[in-house]
Amino acid sequence: MDFFNLFCLSWLDLLFFLAIGGVIYMKKRSNKAKRAKNGDFKGKKILITGGTSGIGKALAEKFSKLGANVIITGRDDKKLQEVSKTIDKCEGYVLDMENPEEVEKWCENNTKNLGTLDAVIHNAGLSMRDLFMNTEIKLGQRLLNVDFLSIFAMIQGLMGNMRTDEQGSVICGIGSLAGVSGAGVRSMYSAIKGANDAFFKCLACEIRDKNIHSMIVHPGYIQTNVSQNALVGDGQKSFGKTDSNIKNGLPVEDCVNQIIDSIVLRKTEVWVCKGFGMKILMFISKIFPSFLDYGLYKNLNQQLSALKKAS
Ligand SMILES: *[C@@H]1O[C@H](CO)[C@@H](O)[C@H](O)[C@H]1NC(C)=O
Ligand SMILES: *[C@@H]1O[C@H](CO)[C@@H](O)[C@H](O)[C@H]1NC(C)=O
Repeated sequence: MDFFNLFCLSWLDLLFFLAIGGVIYMKKRSNKAKRAKNGDFKGKKILITGGTSGIGKALAEKFSKLGANVIITGRDDKKLQEVSKTIDKCEGYVLDMENPEEVEKWCENNTKNLGTLDAVIHNAGLSMRDLFMNTEIKLGQRLLNVDFLSIFAMIQGLMGNMRTDEQGSVICGIGSLAGVSGAGVRSMYSAIKGANDAFFKCLACEIRDKNIHSMIVHPGYIQTNVSQNALVGDGQKSFGKTDSNIKNGLPVEDCVNQIIDSIVLRKTEVWVCKGFGMKILMFISKIFPSFLDYGLYKNLNQQLSALKKAS
């Protein structure tokens, strides 16, 4: 009795702390089991789209170091040859994501060669940097093809290649935090990444019976060339510079380590960014949407100044 009075605790408080402790303990146990089951990539076959630069290339390098057989795709045959030569047990396939019907044909053409896949990471993507009023429909159509319809087509086309035995397989989308929260100067991109978020969740429920896990990772600012290649205006030109948000972002290697751990743990939706601040803001804005509204309005000037500071 004295113990409870001393700390102003009641039996109910004690039960509450025990319950939280229990949940944390169970979570740790389940993570340990998942790491034991899925943590060994030796001999696993992993396909990564957009594998010649940025997050895709770093993922290919890391998976190869972990003993996996890596298949990368990219638009540029020369770059593909160069990169696949530098990575152990790596094969390159030319694949352009601009036309979803071509992606369908590519899958038909290559199902036999690709064989059984343990994981596919849909990393290839294109961003944008322009105000809503300057964004032409043509830009939107390009982004829709590359960032959504081609991914949709590819997942359909490769469904027969996914491993469905006891070990199962993973289909992992690479979205964007902008697709969860929205962001200035990326209206069309955010909308399409948001479409991916919903899509990978729809997919999850339809393929769960087959032992295929669908998940989506949403990176924030990561130090890649994403803003160099980001489209502006009518979508025929690129921004061509790295904005200061990206320059100060999370190093690619850290991003890749978090993605791989999320795949091992078979997570569903993952936010990857520098520090905890952004994650806390995102979490609060899920509960209080008007907070998000105001936050993004305040953030727009910061986005515009990041474009001005680009080099
Ligand atoms: C960005 O592009 C440059 C020049 O093409 C390249 O050397 C660099 O590795 C790229 N960065 C990433 C993270 O892919
Ligand atoms: C698929 O194969 C056909 C026949 O070999 C070829 O003409 C076509 O270019 C290929 N398409 C793709 C997207 O790989």
